[in-house]
Amino acid sequence: MGEEISDKTIDNIFDRYINTSGLIFENREVLRHTYVPERLPHREKQYESLAAILAPTLVGESPSNVFEYGQTGTGKTAVTKAVLNILKNKCQEVNSNLKTCYLNCQIVDTTYRVFANLNESIGLQIPVTGLPTEVVYSRFVEALDALNCIFIVVLDEIDMLLRKSWDALYNLTRINSDLSKSKLSIIGITNNVKFKESLDPRVRSSLGEEEIVFSPYLAPQLKDILEDRCDIGFKPEVVDPSAIHIAAAFAAQEHGDARRALDLIRVAGEVAERNGITIVTDEQVRQARQIIERNTVAEVITTLPIQTKVVLTSIFEQISNHKSHNTTTGELYELYSDISKELMIDQLTQRRISDLINELEMLGIINCRVVSKGRYGRTKEISLSVPLREIKEVLSNDYRISEIIDRKRK
Ligand SMILES: Nc1ncnc2c1ncn2[C@@H]1O[C@H](COP(=O)(O)OP(=O)(O)OP(=O)(O)O)[C@@H](O)[C@H]1O
Ligand SMILES: [Mg+2]
Repeated sequence: MGEEISDKTIDNIFDRYINTSGLIFENREVLRHTYVPERLPHREKQYESLAAILAPTLVGESPSNVFEYGQTGTGKTAVTKAVLNILKNKCQEVNSNLKTCYLNCQIVDTTYRVFANLNESIGLQIPVTGLPTEVVYSRFVEALDALNCIFIVVLDEIDMLLRKSWDALYNLTRINSDLSKSKLSIIGITNNVKFKESLDPRVRSSLGEEEIVFSPYLAPQLKDILEDRCDIGFKPEVVDPSAIHIAAAFAAQEHGDARRALDLIRVAGEVAERNGITIVTDEQVRQARQIIERNTVAEVITTLPIQTKVVLTSIFEQISNHKSHNTTTGELYELYSDISKELMIDQLTQRRISDLINELEMLGIINCRVVSKGRYGRTKEISLSVPLREIKEVLSNDYRISEIIDRKRK
C-alpha cells in the first residue's frame, strides 16, 4: 500500500503551483524550440550570407539553391525562417511575386507527400493517397507555372529524403526545365555531415550552388543567446547569473547546441516551479540536466527495433546476473539466441548482432573495447554506459521484454 494522499495534500500542491508558477515564467513559449526569436546573436554571418543569396528574388530573379549544414542546435532552422520572413515582407513591398514553402522532411518523408505538400502550399488540395506520384508532380508544375512567381522551398532535415524519396530531390533539382514562367529554388538543410557525399553527383552540384556552414556555439555565445531569451521568457530577477553560466557551459560541452541550452534553462524553471522556489540557480540547472538526460536515454531505448532491444536485454542480463562490469560477444550470442527463441522472433546471425552492438554503441548506450585473448584471437568487451536500473526500467516498458526480465529473476 502506498502512502495515503489526502485531498488536502493535493490541494497544497496545486496551490503552491498556482502561487509560484506566475512568479517564474513571463512567457514559457519563448523558451521552446519552435519559437523564432527576432534577434539571433552570433549568427550574423550566416544571416547575411543567406539574405545576400536570396536577394535576387526582390527583382524577380530566382536565387541560387543553398545548402546549409551544421550540428544540431546551431540555428539553421531559426536563421532560415527568420530571413524568409523578412524577405517575404520586403517582396510584398516591392511587388515581387514570391511564394515559399517550408517542409520538414522528417515528417514529409515520401515523394508523394513532398509534392502533395508543395501543391497544398499554393492552394491545390491533393488526396492523401491514391494518385500516381507523376500526376501529383505534374499538377504542381502546371499550377506553379501559372502563378508566374519565384518559389522557394525549404527542405529541412533533407537527409531524411534519401531513404525513401531521393527521387523527390532529383525531380526538384531539375524542375526548372519543366517550368517556363515560374522558377523554383531550394534551400536544403541538414545536420548530417555525410549527407552530401551520399548524393548523386548531379543533385549534389545543383543543390550546393551556395553553401552556408553553421559552426557550433561556444559557451560565451550560448550565454548571450540565453540572456536574450531569459529576458523575455522569465520574470525579472528570477534567473540567477549562475544558472545561465552553467547552462551555457553544459550545452557547450555537447557540441555547442543552443537547443540544449534552452531546454536546460526552461526545465530548470520548471524544477523551481515544482518545488515552489522563485529563483533559478545552477542547482536547478543541474537537476534539469539529469531529467533531460534520463528522458533522452529513455526515448532512444524505447524506440529501438525489437531485435536491438533483445540484444540490449541480453547485455543487461549478462551483466546484471554475473555481477561483472562487462560481457563479451561470444557469451552474448548464446543468451541472445535463447531469448529470441523464447520470444519467437527471427534469430539473426552473429554478424548482424555485431552490427546491432555497434549501433548501440553509437547511440551511447553501451561501450565496447576490443581486447586480445592471446591465441584465441580478439573479442569485444561490452559494458553499459547507462545505469542498470535505468536500462531495466525502460526495457520493462516493453511487455515482451518485461516478461523475459521477470522470468530470469525467478
Ligand atoms: N543565435 C541564436 N540566437 C537565439 N536563439 C537561437 C540561436 N541559435 C539557435 N537558437 C535557438 O535554439 C534552438 C535550436 O535552433 P535551430 O532549431 O535553429 O537549430 P538547428 O540548427 O535547426 O538544429 P537541428 O539540426 O537539430 O534542426 C531554437 O529554439 C532557436 O530559436
Ligand atoms: Mg533544424
